[in-house]
Amino acid sequence: MSEFIEIIGGTPLQGRVTVGGAKNAALPLLISTLLTGEECSLSNVPNLTDTSLVIHLLEQFGAEASYDGNTVVVRTPRLVATEASYSLVKALRASFWVLAPLLARGRAARVALPGGDLIGARPVDLHLEGLVKMGADISLKHGVVYATAEHGLRPAMIDLRFPSVGATHQLIMAASLTPGVTVIKGCAREPEIIALANFLNGMGADIQGAGGSIVEIRGRSELSGTSANLIGDRIEAGTYLLAGAMTGGNVTVDGIDPMFFGSFLEILTSMGLEVSCGETSVSVRRNGPLRPVHVKTAPFPGLATDLQAPLMAALTLAEGTSTIEETVYEGRFGHASELARLGANIKIAERVVTIEGVQKLTGAPVDGLDIRAAACLALAALAAEGTSELHEVHHLRRGYEHFERKMSELGARLWSRISDPEDFIFAGC
Ligand code: UD1
Repeated sequence: MSEFIEIIGGTPLQGRVTVGGAKNAALPLLISTLLTGEECSLSNVPNLTDTSLVIHLLEQFGAEASYDGNTVVVRTPRLVATEASYSLVKALRASFWVLAPLLARGRAARVALPGGDLIGARPVDLHLEGLVKMGADISLKHGVVYATAEHGLRPAMIDLRFPSVGATHQLIMAASLTPGVTVIKGCAREPEIIALANFLNGMGADIQGAGGSIVEIRGRSELSGTSANLIGDRIEAGTYLLAGAMTGGNVTVDGIDPMFFGSFLEILTSMGLEVSCGETSVSVRRNGPLRPVHVKTAPFPGLATDLQAPLMAALTLAEGTSTIEETVYEGRFGHASELARLGANIKIAERVVTIEGVQKLTGAPVDGLDIRAAACLALAALAAEGTSELHEVHHLRRGYEHFERKMSELGARLWSRISDPEDFIFAGC
């Protein structure tokens, strides 16, 4: 039996929705708790497949974790293992980031290379080059990174060729438990980097400049426990705002700093939407037709690649021709062919998609093959005439907590369903 979501489209979504804690902040913060033997507490942690997986991973290294609602308390008195297997790194790419804490605290790590996935090749050369600069001895054998730092890591000057989010997290974690001053240039500037730096500062590190391109880390020989409340999830928030816009409604998201959106809110304004911001909320109202735009994804503060798919869904109903260039991941257009099943008119030429707006979308069964593709197709189905079925829902569960409940609160008509057991009657045990 497999789960799918049945969606009856056509209702304009109205109202307020509170976003959960940012998945992409939860993962590095949870991983960074391996840097200390003391207790760390994180609140506002979304209950998602990805956060559960990372907690399971921490437990393999000796962490004791307990949960109370959306609060997670973790303590790793000592590291009991040094290896992250391929099955875990494959299931959750961010697992690769355990390399830095294992190396900085335990002086040795064996972590499987994550490999590519549906959205692109996703190499880790920047992570490894940075750690080598910090004195790590790294070799690759049979798809596994073997890293040691027999005498400990040392501070370094590191220049990232591309502002990789993961490499920035990895190297900031390594430098925090390395006495001396490490300077990293070309850092990613995403809000989740600031969240990690604040958390590590709470553990006793001294990190300056996070959120800018140059980050200076004064590391310590030991770090202590700390606690933090996770920042809101800007990608989840953007998804709900687009859902309101696409269906001709008016949605407010609470629990999010408007600065976290970077250029996304300007793009919504260019689409003819009325955007208003509070201190921790953003509202988007649609008063007329959606206007087409020509945009490209880019590292923060540019348009987040994770919002590219939901934005594409909205542009399928714009009055005219839009283009989106994907500059971060070469293969992140898998959702385009599924959107076509709902009646969208989309052409792909290398890294650019051209979207001819259509009058209406019509319901169909679709597969959401990664987290954001699944969100994109759910939005398109919510705006489509008739009934759709969103399959491969486990991808959606990686990034959206209480998706059906939150959408229902905005007036959407959607339900989680299990494929007819009759379909499986001859499938055996
Ligand atoms: C993180 C986010 C993901 C988001 C992405 C870009 C988490 C858990 N995931 O992923 O949701 O889509 O940032 O905003 O936070 N690259 C290299 N060499 C490297 C590392 C990266 O060439 O060593 C390239 C990648 O192939 C990719 C680009 O840099 O083309 C962006 O990758 P990166 O910023 O590292 O993304 P992740 O940290 O994996």
